Amino acid sequence: MDVFEKHVFVCVSGKTCPKEGSEEICSAMRQEIAALGLKKQIRINKSGCFDQCGNGVVMVVYPERTWYAHVKPGDVKEIVEKHLVGGQPLQRLLYDGGGRRDK
Ligand code: FES
Repeated sequence: MDVFEKHVFVCVSGKTCPKEGSEEICSAMRQEIAALGLKKQIRINKSGCFDQCGNGVVMVVYPERTWYAHVKPGDVKEIVEKHLVGGQPLQRLLYDGGGRRDK
């Protein structure tokens, strides 16, 4: 059986991410991946809290260990197209534990 090339973990529990639409984001990301026929290559998983609460919806992409914060439903298509498919992380949403990297 093939293993996934990328795993995306979306925080859907904890104090803040669920209030910011993380379930919707997770579902939308799954739909985008399915529509592109990439379900065998890219897995979108629901995750528990990452202890990064208060930074909007938080997610992490493996194997490259790229963290995103303040993700909105409207960002999903861009993350999928630019990062998961195109291999270029979305700079404006990158997160390193201290807030967005562009701040
Ligand atoms: S609620 Fe998402 S990081 Fe804590």
